[in-house]
Amino acid sequence: SAGQHESDDHDATAAAEEGGTLPPPTRQGLWVLYRGCWLKPQTAESVAVVQAQFEPRPDDVFLATYPKCGTTWLKALAFAVTNRLRHGHAVGDSGHPLLTNHPQHLVPFLELPDRRLHPLADDLDALASPRLLATHMPLSLLAARVGALGCRVVYMCREPKDVLVSYWHFASKVHADFSMDMAFELFCDGVSSYGPIWDHNLGYWRQSMTEPRRILFLKYEDMMADPTSHVKMLAEFLRVPFSDDEVRRGVVEEVVDLCSFDKLKSLPVNSSGVSDRFVGVPIQNSSYFRTGRVGDWATHFTQEMAEKLDAIVEEKFRGSGLRF
Ligand code: A3P
Repeated sequence: SAGQHESDDHDATAAAEEGGTLPPPTRQGLWVLYRGCWLKPQTAESVAVVQAQFEPRPDDVFLATYPKCGTTWLKALAFAVTNRLRHGHAVGDSGHPLLTNHPQHLVPFLELPDRRLHPLADDLDALASPRLLATHMPLSLLAARVGALGCRVVYMCREPKDVLVSYWHFASKVHADFSMDMAFELFCDGVSSYGPIWDHNLGYWRQSMTEPRRILFLKYEDMMADPTSHVKMLAEFLRVPFSDDEVRRGVVEEVVDLCSFDKLKSLPVNSSGVSDRFVGVPIQNSSYFRTGRVGDWATHFTQEMAEKLDAIVEEKFRGSGLRF
């Protein structure tokens, strides 16, 4: 109930003000298994609401990610690409919305317990078409109608060891005494928000093989290695391809630069302030921009840990054609 949420918020806010900490997440304490997917109870409630009430439109585009796989980046890129022909949203414009808005707030999440903190999401029905909506839900939980209507989905995944390291840093901001060993053990068992991660990856991967024109499957590492060609691909998929003239004028590179880790991280709107919550606890805007590096797992994992997680992922992906 709303009352329950308010008291949770109140407790969480008080906890945050007293040093920003909840106890470390445990299997029993933090997640529930909802149709094969580990969710926080409030998120499960929110997902159930989406499943019951959300009305997809055929021209909706979903940005789907597993948490910490580059959601913030994908939101920024998709926003810049799709809005670049609109008045006041030209990429090189000094008044561009990305210069004064956190990317998380420019594309609303479909499901999230703290929805009211994303002003745009207050009423998804009120958004003009074509809507750009973000979700962390696995494909199996995205409403069946989304597939039936032919809605397009951009999925972005990331090498699982880096995902875990990124998640651990993020979660450690609100969970005290959350050791990497604890996070690692849970993750290897598939217990993490929206996990298991391999099921999440494979769901979208398999569907993208069947319906490549409906599901664009991207990898964080590939995007980092060659952002320009991926931004072009993204624009084509979103049906707003760059014209020859735009390409000549360097607009693709402008989008890449505007949405780059260094650029976004440096903006005051992203480097200061608090506007989101994580497990109910207020979290710094800057927490969405940590190092933005590929392979940062190497500074946190022992060789043994790396081999263990690699072996699990390899086994899960066997025969699928998906690899990192
Ligand atoms: P690290 O913690 O490894 O630095 P999400 O947006 O899904 O929460 O993912 C967060 C991860 O994406 C963080 O990874 C963050 O630093 C990285 N990130 C944020 N903005 C980015 C950008 N513009 N380009 C590349 N990586 C970015």
